[in-house]
Amino acid sequence: MAARTVTIPPPAADPGVFPARRVLVAACGSADVLTLPQSILVLRHALGLDVRVVLTPAAARFVPARSFSLLTGHPALVDEEGDGEVPHLALTGWADLVLVLPATANTLAKAALGIADNLVGTCLLAAAAPVVLVPSMNQAMWERPAVRRNVARLREDGYLVVEPVPVLALSTGTRAGRGMPPIEVVLEQAAAHLRAAGASRG
Ligand SMILES: Cc1cc2nc3c(=O)[nH]c(=O)nc-3n(C[C@H](O)[C@H](O)[C@H](O)COP(=O)(O)O)c2cc1C
Repeated sequence: MAARTVTIPPPAADPGVFPARRVLVAACGSADVLTLPQSILVLRHALGLDVRVVLTPAAARFVPARSFSLLTGHPALVDEEGDGEVPHLALTGWADLVLVLPATANTLAKAALGIADNLVGTCLLAAAAPVVLVPSMNQAMWERPAVRRNVARLREDGYLVVEPVPVLALSTGTRAGRGMPPIEVVLEQAAAHLRAAGASRG
């Protein structure tokens, strides 16, 4: 007998619970991207959000884009692929929150300078929606003056940069990591940022 698959639709998003419906996740090449599928399940199936994913080439070396296509039900992109609409314009026009999860030191630096040499960088520059960056890196990187300067610049520019917490570093198994807080904590901070951005827009 042929196997049957049953699709369970995600719950409808409730703006009283989370003040965004369409989330563009921009994934970077931190080992923490290995945990992103679990966070996407929470966004989609606990909160009922519509989620699309773009990846840096480094992120796609950890987890293939196709995995995120399966998890979100939308094509996950690394490049400006396709010959119809322009991906960075279509995606940033669609999103009402951009979540850089995880954010590497490299992408933080590029975002601080406005460098757009890949799809993630271009989406960050083109985004009209609030942008939340969730860094993950080892402690030495996080404390490096260049990274401190970039984070300060990003905060001055109006980005929410979530403060990382001590974690077991996935790539080394040591406690030298400064990683993403649990996704529930990230979402709480993102919700506050969205509400503040909405209030300041009137
Ligand atoms: C196994 C491995 C783990 C890495 N983990 C991190 C990390 O947690 N944080 C970070 O900032 N960079 C990390 N890097 C370095 C980034 O992959 C590298 O800087 C890359 O150029 C980032 O590109 P992106 O910002 O375009 O994704 C790691 C590299 C490797 C090989």
